[in-house]
Amino acid sequence: MKKRVLALSMASLMAFGLVGCSGGSSETAQTTAAAGSEAAGETTATGDTGAKADAEVANKDKPLVWFNRQPSNSSTGELDMNALSFNDSTYYVGFDANQGAELQGTMVKEYIEKNIDTIDRNGDGIIGYVLAIGDIGHNDSIARTRGVRKALGTGLEKDGAIVSDPVGINTDGTSTAVQDGSIEVNGKTYVVRELASQEMKNSAGATWDAATAGNAIGTWASSFGDQIDVIASNNDGMGMSMFNAWSKDNKVPTFGYDANNDAVAAIAEGYGGTISQHADVQAYLTLRVLRNGLDGVDIDTGIGTPDEAGNVLSDDVYVYNEDERSYYALNVAVTADNYQDFTDSTKVYEPVSNQLDAASHQEKTVWLDIYNASDNFLSSTYQPLLQKYDDLLNLKVDYIGGDGQTESNITNRLGNPSQYDAFAINMVKTDNAASYTALLSQ
Ligand code: BGC
Ligand code: CA
Repeated sequence: MKKRVLALSMASLMAFGLVGCSGGSSETAQTTAAAGSEAAGETTATGDTGAKADAEVANKDKPLVWFNRQPSNSSTGELDMNALSFNDSTYYVGFDANQGAELQGTMVKEYIEKNIDTIDRNGDGIIGYVLAIGDIGHNDSIARTRGVRKALGTGLEKDGAIVSDPVGINTDGTSTAVQDGSIEVNGKTYVVRELASQEMKNSAGATWDAATAGNAIGTWASSFGDQIDVIASNNDGMGMSMFNAWSKDNKVPTFGYDANNDAVAAIAEGYGGTISQHADVQAYLTLRVLRNGLDGVDIDTGIGTPDEAGNVLSDDVYVYNEDERSYYALNVAVTADNYQDFTDSTKVYEPVSNQLDAASHQEKTVWLDIYNASDNFLSSTYQPLLQKYDDLLNLKVDYIGGDGQTESNITNRLGNPSQYDAFAINMVKTDNAASYTALLSQ
């Protein structure tokens, strides 16, 4: 292991030297600034924009980061360690799904307790909620469903884990995927029931689909609207769609996840709350691990160990799990109490906002895809952050926006990996890592 790391950094050092001879860094930087290829959906090729990938490094040895969708089995959740350790410079960057899920569940529960006098809208002693599920095979989505069910006591255990299947409609409380929970406040016990839940997948196959969630709440509300006291959603994209379609007017709180700008702003208008997954830290880590791989330095540089520009993260905002080769940002609950601090989700995280020196960290080219160009979180929060950090880290990134449905829509646009120095991949489906690594292994 040590030896391979050394070999790799030697290779990067040599590569570094070569690039140094073949073109000045200032020249490269200028050409790039003029190229302006930073828009999702654009399939700009890098070849003609100035920065050239290093021909000496094989594609299979180039730094690779998976982000937002962790290579894993979509039915069992088991991590795909082949993909996660594809080469010595391969990592995953995401957030701590369990810690975040627990926060989301607790946030909903505390809201119910605090508003117990008014929450049961039809006064039947049952606190009814509906749940929007993002993707039944995505481990983060599964964790969030479990987190809500756990906190509200509606979860049923199977094989040591809470069942995360959608219930469809469960207004009568007979579903076998959940149970009725109970909550005791001021000596009075209330039943908590998951009235309905479904995966928000559109007919073309896109998951986490906001429009589908907006339609679902319409359907649910028209048949059992007065029973709905709370709405929980696996993300803000779907949550805001339900809020705008129904919950805002009916004064029913909706709880989401991601802390997108529009959701945080909506807290002032009755949106119940959301969870920040510290996208400002994740976006940094996504590009930072690539930068470190390209520089051939210790992976902890500018992460747990300050770099020469002073960038460093404290351990209250992320954890690194070496066995899983994964960096996980930590989550923070955003509610009426603190939302003022979260109004700009695209602001870089101050402790890692220092520009790297262009002479010692020469410009490199990165291929990066967003699985669905219209995903709210990725397009309105994550990508704008990446676009700020790429400048600070001297990376020229080509952003490729997928259709959210088919992997080939994205892999087709990785036709010539040799044009790039490093890769950042956001898969459509967590099972599909091999479709990408196969291209890099050719
Ligand atoms: C985000 C969702 C997003 C999904 C896409 C999740 O981590 O919270 O909002 O749609 O990733 O994969
Ligand atoms: Ca009720």
